[in-house]
Amino acid sequence: MKLETKLLNFKLKSPLMAASGPLTSTSENILFFNEINAGALVTKTISSVGADVKKPCIYAEKDMVYNSELWSEDPPEKWINEFLPEIVKKKDKPLIVSVGYNIDDFNNLIPKLDKFADMFEISTHYIKSDLGEVVKTIRKNTDKPIFMKLSPHIQDYIGFTKTILDAGATGVVAINSVGPGIKIDLMNRRLQLGNEDGQVWVSGPAIKPYALQRVRDLRNNFKDIPIISAGGVNNATDVLEFLLAGADSVQMLSSALINGKSLYKKILGDLPLVLEKYNFNSIEEVKNAKLLERNEEDNDYPTIDFDKCKMCLRCVDVCPVFAWEYNDGQLKLNNEKCIKCGTCESRCPVFAISGVLYEI
Ligand SMILES: Cc1cc2nc3c(=O)[nH]c(=O)nc-3n(C[C@H](O)[C@H](O)[C@H](O)COP(=O)(O)O)c2cc1C
Repeated sequence: MKLETKLLNFKLKSPLMAASGPLTSTSENILFFNEINAGALVTKTISSVGADVKKPCIYAEKDMVYNSELWSEDPPEKWINEFLPEIVKKKDKPLIVSVGYNIDDFNNLIPKLDKFADMFEISTHYIKSDLGEVVKTIRKNTDKPIFMKLSPHIQDYIGFTKTILDAGATGVVAINSVGPGIKIDLMNRRLQLGNEDGQVWVSGPAIKPYALQRVRDLRNNFKDIPIISAGGVNNATDVLEFLLAGADSVQMLSSALINGKSLYKKILGDLPLVLEKYNFNSIEEVKNAKLLERNEEDNDYPTIDFDKCKMCLRCVDVCPVFAWEYNDGQLKLNNEKCIKCGTCESRCPVFAISGVLYEI
């Protein structure tokens, strides 16, 4: 009940779904998400020819994933004749079909995929043609909702969104992975993985602030469009943050590569508890809540609760302006040096410091 939400006119059992990638690359993988309380099903990006991906192509570490995957390695025929009919036969959730990349691909693929798709998600990662023309081509071939996926290297994302909406798109998925970057294998003095140019794309918790910023700014500029977020979700709290920032639904991929596919179920199980912890009655209530700006007047000097303090002196060590001083067994703040930045409060391991970030 509490987790139910809507995306356009589609009723979703929850706001969480898998993002396009290896976990959504076959019917078997996609149907895994039909068996859990996910909101919708998403496919790996389908293009006119199967991708030829150099291996290895995925490296997962604590807070990020590096990848050099392209679109689906399976050709469209496999999707049209095998994967999609099986998914449509078994699914009880809306299906978002991801397609890429250029005008010829869309003229060729959208008519063939249309009968399977409840919505389309269009990867713009490798689009080279005029964006408006691309969207008009897709719209000419379908009446279904079209979500254009924003790649973070697109700086003018507001202009991007105006262009796609004017050309007939319905909404936005924000964001794709960040890059290009590289990953070095120091022992072997070589690149760890990468495409033909040695490049990788970065995703996972490290990109969450970037994705949140895009979602919030898009929501502030486009009050009524549907926005699906993607980028860095790792737990139920992250899901609520994206909804508060303005997302209608939330995709996740990399954290499941880092921590395992069981994370989807864990997050869905945790969501009711986290809603309660932050005093929300439902997902819809989070979506309707207003994200406030921070007021600088709320900011005061840090103070220490010595009942909690373990005298580890991390505050002294991390203070960037040397304002925490420890002399003769006494820990004291030098107010003349303190710039009320918040570093000590955010790094205190026992939450003994307050006043800058959080009110006392
Ligand atoms: C291994 C891998 C493969 C991906 N493949 C695709 C893809 O085929 N199409 C696409 O639109 N996005 C693809 N993405 C991007 C994700 O869908 C998502 O937008 C991005 O990773 C941010 O979300 P996350 O931090 O939860 O992973 C891929 C990401 C990874 C890590």
